[in-house]
Amino acid sequence: MLAETLAYLDIKASGVYVDLTIGPAGHSLRILEQLGPQGFLLGVDRDPEALKLAEQRLRPCAGRFRLLPGRFSDLESLLAEAGISELDGVLMDTGISRDQLLDPARGFSFASSGLSMKLNPAEPGPDAAEIVNTYSVAQLKQVFSIVGKGREAGRAARAIATYREGRKAIESTAELAQIIAAAVARPGSWGKNRHPATPWLMAIRVAANDELAEIEGGLRAAARSLRPGSGRLVVVSWAGHEHGLVRQTLRNLQQPCSCPPALPCTCQQRPLLRVLTRKPLAASEAEIHRNPATRTCRLQAAVATSLEDRA
Ligand SMILES: C[S@@+](CC[C@H](N)C(=O)[O-])C[C@H]1O[C@@H](n2cnc3c(N)ncnc32)[C@H](O)[C@@H]1O
Repeated sequence: MLAETLAYLDIKASGVYVDLTIGPAGHSLRILEQLGPQGFLLGVDRDPEALKLAEQRLRPCAGRFRLLPGRFSDLESLLAEAGISELDGVLMDTGISRDQLLDPARGFSFASSGLSMKLNPAEPGPDAAEIVNTYSVAQLKQVFSIVGKGREAGRAARAIATYREGRKAIESTAELAQIIAAAVARPGSWGKNRHPATPWLMAIRVAANDELAEIEGGLRAAARSLRPGSGRLVVVSWAGHEHGLVRQTLRNLQQPCSCPPALPCTCQQRPLLRVLTRKPLAASEAEIHRNPATRTCRLQAAVATSLEDRA
């Protein structure tokens, strides 16, 4: 989806762009290639380790970018800190990077020895260990609700609660993955490429990082920060619950005032965006063949409306 992402960003050589999910800086490097000497990139990530990696990878472009730690929902305060008033483009590539997934201490993968799943361990709020060791069955079912499998969610939640009763706490994602898989997978149904606990572990990661509120807050902040009439917002998402949330939020952000035309406006709603992708865009067969992980990837894009459209 790299070519499509860059095309929808419609990069101007002298533009100012924010990569809200800089991670290992794959997208940012390509954006910087298209920026001229007047152009600028602000890279953001809530994971301090990801920022260190990005710093190394972007070294050849020194002077044309700045990196700041923060979350999607911090966008406006990060822009104030960097002295930026309007943006020509914002990129959000949700989820986690391969580096994060493969670090066993962080607990993101089903083979992990850790059980944190926090993208920034210094942020407040429960980590995965606290969620699985202290939440009630009802709370765990609520966490699992984004996976959308009602009866299995109940089985997974009850299996966790039963396991921890009378035993020591669950200490690793590997241990947690086994408990969940034993509760939800049919015997012999384990595929070669996907551990049966994968979606349930993702749901716990989403809860540990408050990812749903972050995505919605980040999209709203981006819509308010784009240059009216031309600024672009591109979102690459990797899971079904994210595709739906992005689609709904972008649609909400393109809604005009809903007050009766004869009365003064009381709703304050203005169409900040015009959605460019009628349906979320999927990767091509050829790309999925080259990189099977892109099977679940979807791209959605929007352009900021002009000031006249908002009047
Ligand atoms: C899929 S990776 C991005 C990969 C990057 N686009 C590239 O091409 O190398 C997602 C990154 O977003 C970061 N991230 C996830 N949620 C975030 C949030 N709410 N605020 C800031 N960064 C976030 C993760 O820490 C991770 O580094």
